[in-house]
Amino acid sequence: MASLQSSLMLLSTNHKPPSTTARRFRVSCSSGGGGGVDRRDLLLGLGGLYGATAANLNARADPIQPPDMKVCGVPDVGGVPLDVNCCPPVSDAIKDYVLPPVGTLRVRPAAHSLHRHHHGYLAKYEEAVRRMRALDKSDPDDPRGFTQQANVHCAYCNNAYDQTGTSIPLSIHFSWLFFPWHRWYLYFYERILGKLIQDPTFALPFWNWDNPRGMHLPSIFDNEKSPLYNTNRNPLHRPPAVVDLQYTNDKPEPTDDERLVRSNLATMYNEMMRVRKPEDFMGQSYLAGDEVPPPAKAGTVERGSHTSIHRWVGDPSNPYHEDLGNFYSAGRDPAFYSHHSNVDRMWTIWRGLKTRVPKAINDPDYLNAAFLFYDENKELVRVRAGDALDNRKMGYEYEDVDVPWLYFRPPRRAAGVKIKDISKTAQRPEKVFPLTLSRIARVLVSKTAPGAADEDLVVEHIHASPEEFVKFDVYVNSEEDDPKDVDKAEYAGTFAKLPHRGGRGHHSHDKGKGSVRFTLKELYEDINIDGDDEEVVVTIVPRANGRHVTIGGVKIVKA
Ligand code: C2O
Repeated sequence: MASLQSSLMLLSTNHKPPSTTARRFRVSCSSGGGGGVDRRDLLLGLGGLYGATAANLNARADPIQPPDMKVCGVPDVGGVPLDVNCCPPVSDAIKDYVLPPVGTLRVRPAAHSLHRHHHGYLAKYEEAVRRMRALDKSDPDDPRGFTQQANVHCAYCNNAYDQTGTSIPLSIHFSWLFFPWHRWYLYFYERILGKLIQDPTFALPFWNWDNPRGMHLPSIFDNEKSPLYNTNRNPLHRPPAVVDLQYTNDKPEPTDDERLVRSNLATMYNEMMRVRKPEDFMGQSYLAGDEVPPPAKAGTVERGSHTSIHRWVGDPSNPYHEDLGNFYSAGRDPAFYSHHSNVDRMWTIWRGLKTRVPKAINDPDYLNAAFLFYDENKELVRVRAGDALDNRKMGYEYEDVDVPWLYFRPPRRAAGVKIKDISKTAQRPEKVFPLTLSRIARVLVSKTAPGAADEDLVVEHIHASPEEFVKFDVYVNSEEDDPKDVDKAEYAGTFAKLPHRGGRGHHSHDKGKGSVRFTLKELYEDINIDGDDEEVVVTIVPRANGRHVTIGGVKIVKA
């Protein structure tokens, strides 16, 4: 009779799933034997919820709780089980984490400026990662080892865990948990590195990809002799290749660097400044009992620049674009942690912006969402999203560098287009939707009020195939049938996502669809919209795998 413990040991030896139907192999390993836990009991233990639908669970409106680490299975990509085991070691001793008192702040430096301003830093960082990698061999079960740390991302991001007491996978992408979860992940990763070199002041470098000076893979990651090197990267994108924050491998590589830099800055302006509600930036709500959020619930940065960097670095010749090009493998590339350090910095910058948008989400279901991590002393700790809102309270800050996109609002058009001139090539929504995005769509959409009203564009019921990398861009009143650039007044925004897993078929009532909102007020000013216009032309341009995307409709609503 297999006990839970021995089943787990099986799993921890790179267990290969016997067949594709055994994706929830861990389910049988925890409920089959005498020592196992019956999943139904777990559900009953929650107050008779067995048989409850996802909708009932939603109504309970509870914060996401840490997974039961003992119930951990084979991760998947778009529902395809992977031949990897990324379950972190299990421990029963869970402590509530208390942030240590903050003395001097650790300062995360910009990776591209290390050689000039931070003498000796690189050697320390390399030594720390070397020791972390050494743990893989000397003690593979040490949760602080390099592979174990990469596994944390894989387990939380590729549905190896369920929400405790349910069979609903847990996933921390595509929702308001994205920023706090990754902040905590990096927080412990950084403290572990510091501990391994006995330097509590150690701070991770950030990859400053939003600044022209940092718009290439930082050279510290490109030294083949360094522990920071990784072979699973796109060989075309070694420094000094300029990053593309609108990257898609479906189109030829852009060669004009200056244009790329403009495109990148315009992208950042759009993601950071064209935001109306906190959820537009942070991502939409995700509660206990919810299915895996569809990618349309991600915030602007997550679904835009963040996704592009993952894709741009990962090696397209690998089956799943490993390492950075897929969630399950992303943590295996040391560059991941500097990439996400900049993502984290975007959160810090956004919270400090003096724009009118409220920056805080005060919903207790957000603040009380909780996760588990191993700290630098190998102790398993429970942390809350609400304790990660202010990086200074967590003891670190970012080196101060220019933020050039702040002022990169697209130039205002001298003259607006005449709607009757551009509407000839557009179709009424009834003719277009539901739409499979295998071609460019031009739709004539009614406004709620004429001219530069305060309105939002909603692209509704987006479904993107879980297996694919997907990207499309949205323009308003574009004269071009096939617009190419984003540093344009007409550019409204982007939707992009990495391969992921969708809701599990049998009780996924929403079939993994979501809507994305783009704010229009500023855009109307920039395109110099005619004060009498009662309609606009919305152009949706597929950039990657459009045939794997369906869109239910578009509408314009009052903001
Ligand atoms: Cu958890 Cu950039 O991924």
